[in-house]
Order: sequence, then C-alpha cells, then structure tokens
Amino acid sequence: MRIIVEEDYQSMSKKAALLVAGQVLLKADTVLGLATGSTPLGMYKELVRMYQEGEVDFSAVKTFNLDEYYLLPPDDLQSYHYFMQENFFKHINIRAENIHLPDGMAADIEEECMQYEKAIEASGGIDLQVLGIGENGHIGFNEPAESLNVYTGLVNLTEETIKVNSRFFSSMEEVPQKALTVGMGTILKARRIILLASGEKKAKAIRDTVCGQVTTQVPSSFLQLHPDVTLILDQAAASLIVD
Ligand code: PGA
Repeated sequence: MRIIVEEDYQSMSKKAALLVAGQVLLKADTVLGLATGSTPLGMYKELVRMYQEGEVDFSAVKTFNLDEYYLLPPDDLQSYHYFMQENFFKHINIRAENIHLPDGMAADIEEECMQYEKAIEASGGIDLQVLGIGENGHIGFNEPAESLNVYTGLVNLTEETIKVNSRFFSSMEEVPQKALTVGMGTILKARRIILLASGEKKAKAIRDTVCGQVTTQVPSSFLQLHPDVTLILDQAAASLIVD
C-alpha cells in the first residue's frame, strides 16, 4: 500500500485529481470506478477545473459508480445519480451513455445487479477505482459484517451509517435503510485503487485499514490484499497510523 499524506483537504483533493487525470491522459478510454460522499467533492471540483482549462478530456471515459440508495429516484436530491450529475458529470464532456450507476428503482433488483456486473466486465474492467471510506471502515456500502458480498448486491445499511448519512436528510427516518453496492470482489478486481480520507473522524478506520488484521469487520482492510492501492490522506486522517 502506498500512502500519500497531504497537509489538508485541498491538497489531498488536488493530488487525487492529478492521479485521475493522469490515468485519463495515459488511456483516453479509461474505465473509472467512482465514489460519492463529502470526501471526493474537492477532487471532482479540481477535475472540472482541469477539464475547463483543457488539461483533461473525458469524451472517451466510462464510469461506474459504487453505489446507490434503494428506492430513491434518480432526481431525488439525495440520490447518488443526482450527486454525480450536479458535482461532476454536467460540468465535463463525458457521454451520457458512458455513465453507469446502479439503479435503486429497478423492478428486478437481482437482475439489475447482475447486469451491472456484466456491464463492468464488458467495458474491460475498472482501470482506476476511487474510494472513500466510512468511519466504520465500509467501502462502497460494504458494511462490517460476518461476511462480505463478492458481487454487486442489495445490502442493509448499519445503524451507524444511517446516522452518519442522516446529515444530508431532514430526519433519520428519511434515510434509506438499504442500498445497492458494488461488492468487495468487484472492487478488488480494479487494476488500481485510490482511497481518499480526510479528517480526524476517519483516523481510526485508516489505522485499521493499514495496520490492522484483514477482517470482514473492517471491509477496507481487504485492500491490503490488492497489489496497487494508494491512500491519499490529509494529516488528520493519517494521524493514528503507526510505523
Ligand atoms: P464521506 O463518506 O466522504 O461523506 O465521509 C464516505 C463513505 O461513507 O464512504
């Protein structure tokens, strides 16, 4: 695991954007795995700036997002479809047909998850997967549990995640209890992975990711098994890592 520690959120975001843009420069038809949440917002902003200044071109890029809430329509302000459009896609020259997110409204969820896996495979697989991390070590919505899903599937969110995510909703009751998420096996099949974390609240999860045992109770610890993972952290998130 490579670990890059940056001074603050802004320089962490810039470094992450540089790595994504570098990947797209090397391979114009890159397949990106993308994440939502507060953490990658700065990275998306920087990528939009780079696009506007002609430094990067997304016209051949394909994207697959990690997750979406179950039964939240794409135009819901809290849906990840909406998040991605507002914060990234509508500002760049990506083709609509190259954008993929799991459909939380699908009539047949099992079929939807299978098709999502097939679409990733048909695209040639994820070249670069961008990840955030939950305070509990979840990646995507792969929550700590006795066992983890290998493939894309419908999962129950933990109470902790519902509580943490309720900051975006008007009440706890409004937070969906389930989500579709790309599975751990699919994440670990990506050729390269970058994980972004910022702030003291993530320090324990980062310590467990880097220094802890590989355990389903900390899904991010499985990243230790991948040959090409880079953590991009700010100082607060890196503060509990021990040599
Ligand atoms: P955050 O979420 O970036 O909003 O902290 C990360 C996650 O829960 O995976």
